[in-house]
Formats: sequence, structure tokens, C-alpha cells
Amino acid sequence: MSGNIPILISGTGSYAPEGILTNADLTRMVDTTDEWILSRTGIRERRIAAPQELTSDMAIHASRAAMDAAGVKPEEIDLVLVATITPDMPFPSTACIIQNRLGLRPVPAMDIEAACSGFLYVLEVGAAMLRSGKMRHALVVGSEKLSSIIDWEDRSTCVLFGDGAGAVILSRGENTGEGVLSTTLGSDGRGGEILYMPGGGALCPPTPASLADRQHFLKMNGKEVFKIAVRVMEKAALEILAEHNLQPSDVALVIPHQANVRIIELLSSRLGMPMEKFAVNIDRYGNTSAASIPLALDEAVRAGQVKKGDLILMVAFGAGLTWAASLIRWH
Ligand SMILES: CC(C)(COP(=O)(O)OP(=O)(O)OC[C@H]1O[C@@H](n2cnc3c(N)ncnc32)[C@H](O)[C@@H]1OP(=O)(O)O)[C@@H](O)C(=O)NCCC(=O)NCCS
Repeated sequence: MSGNIPILISGTGSYAPEGILTNADLTRMVDTTDEWILSRTGIRERRIAAPQELTSDMAIHASRAAMDAAGVKPEEIDLVLVATITPDMPFPSTACIIQNRLGLRPVPAMDIEAACSGFLYVLEVGAAMLRSGKMRHALVVGSEKLSSIIDWEDRSTCVLFGDGAGAVILSRGENTGEGVLSTTLGSDGRGGEILYMPGGGALCPPTPASLADRQHFLKMNGKEVFKIAVRVMEKAALEILAEHNLQPSDVALVIPHQANVRIIELLSSRLGMPMEKFAVNIDRYGNTSAASIPLALDEAVRAGQVKKGDLILMVAFGAGLTWAASLIRWH
């Protein structure tokens, strides 16, 4: 039965642009301090792409690294999915741009937008499409140039975000019980107004007035987002563990969305799991939205933190509102 086809993460890759923006740099841009940013968020620095470096460029670096790690050639890729809220342009999709630039066959390619939950959304869509039995390998990417939608005059948001990309190759496996065990996805559009970007779409096309009114930048009610993030990430994590009759203590490593280290610490205490079991790199990258989970996963894999048989829990929250959790039995 197609539902039983195991889907493995056969390779991971990531990319962070060279440019580093430290908290000290931000103190010269807005009224803030290193102490405030570090104590409220856990962030020390973030990467900022060069002006000509696009979401697709970062996605391509991460994708090549993932294909190398998986030993999968460009001509073997059957599907391209990109999660991003900062596509190079509204259309064509960033997935089509990288399909062309990576020299892939004329396979299906599309972007999916679920903000910071986006990578787990594309992971689930990719796994479901591979399970249908017609495809063998999918390139699944989260890539963001958030610096292009940040209001660099708004101290309550500009200190939080950064640029980067992460990618995985999803491949059909042989042994049931290995790979992506399941993913749970959810949304509640009633919370849309606490994290959004009003400008650029049909609601608010670019005009001199909308630009002057700073409508083309991300807006956020940080306090509200914080409270809901902790609640829904805990709920999604417990639900997916319960679905498999597993306990938090069965999990070897949690890869949480990197939004604020205090959110991760609260999740750790609510799940009763020590912080040592959580992959944390927010100090170096800030919040890279859809790139954050695959970037942290790639770092953990390359650091040898993930071993065969380990149970990996990935959990995310983002604008929409959206949330997601995924359980992987590493092969
Ligand atoms: C944004 C966030 C760090 C703010 O931390 P907080 O403890 O909630 O801080 P508050 O919003 O209560 O602000 C406290 C004070 O700090 C000020 N402040 C905000 N940003 C500041 C900055 N960069 N530097 C110095 N002071 C700042 C505020 O103006 C406020 O001042 P006031 O008390 O005089 O009004 C936190 O709410 C957060 O991380 N929220 C979640 C954001 C998130 O995860 N978004 C992405 C989801 S995918």
C-alpha cells in the first residue's frame, strides 16, 4: 500500500550568507542594546544576504549540498518544493527558478507559503507525493531573504530576523518504521493580524503612499505571538507523540523553529525535556523563518548529533497562524 512507503531524509544541506549583522551593529541603527536583544531573544548575530544575493541563490547552495550528501544527481530529482515568504518575485515561483538553474528535468515545482511553519508543510507535501508511488526523490527547501521585508527602523522586529537556507532530499526507502513517521499541520486564520505584511499583494499594491507608510514591511505583535507560539508548539508536539504512543523521553533530539530562545526554553520545561535535547542556533542566525528548521537539522546532522535509530521531533509555529510538528526515525 502506498501509505506504507517509507520516506527518508537522504541528505541535508544549508547555506548562510557571509554578511554578519551583530547586536552591536544594530545599536548604531535603532535604539537598542546588546543586553536587551540577548536577554529577550538569545540572538547575538544574524546573517544578511548581499543586495544581489537572492532567496533562490541561497536555496541553490543549500540544495547542491543536500544532493551531494544524499548522493542524488540533479537528473534524479522528481519534484521541487520551496517554502518561503520572500520569493525572488511573486511569480514565477522560486521553485521554478531553482529547477532551471540546477538543470533539473521538467519536473513539478512549486512554492508553498506557511511562513515559519513552511518547511514542515513542504516536508509533508513532499512525503505525501512520494508516497503516491510515482516519484523517488524530492528536493525540499526552506529559503528566506527576510532582510528584504524587515523595517530597519522598527526596533521591535528588526533585531529578530536573518537570512539563510536549508534543504533536504526526501527519498523513498525500503524499511518501514524508518524516516518521516508522520507530520501534523494546522492553522487558525483568526490570528492573522498579529504577524503579517500588508503591502505587495492585491490588498495594498505598491504606491508612493504605501511605501511612505511602510506597508511593505513585516508587522508583528510580539507579545501575542510569543504566548501563542509556546502553547501551539507544545500542543503539536504532544499530539504527534501521542499518535505514535511515544513519550517526550523517547525523543533524542528536538529541532524547534528558532524564533526566541525563551520560547524554546519554555517548550523544554513544558515538555519536561532538558535543553540539551534541543538544537539551538538562534544565537548565530536569529529567526530565518522557513529556513530555520532545515538549517538547524543540517548543522545537527553534520555535527554528528543524529544517529541511526534516533527519534527526531521537529516543531514549528508561524504567521497565518500556522503550526506543524514532524517525527522522524533517523535511518
Ligand atoms: C519581540 C519580543 C522579543 C519582545 O520581548 P518582550 O519581552 O515581549 O518585550 P515587550 O514587547 O514587552 O517590550 C518590552 C519593552 O522593550 C521595548 N523594546 C522592544 N524592542 C526593543 C529593542 N530592540 N531594544 C530595546 N527595547 C525594545 C518595548 O518598546 C517595550 O518598552 P516599553 O515597556 O517602554 O513599552 C518577544 O515578544 C518575542 O520574541 N515574541 C515572539 C516573536 C516571534 O517569535 N516572532 C516570529 C514568530 S515565527
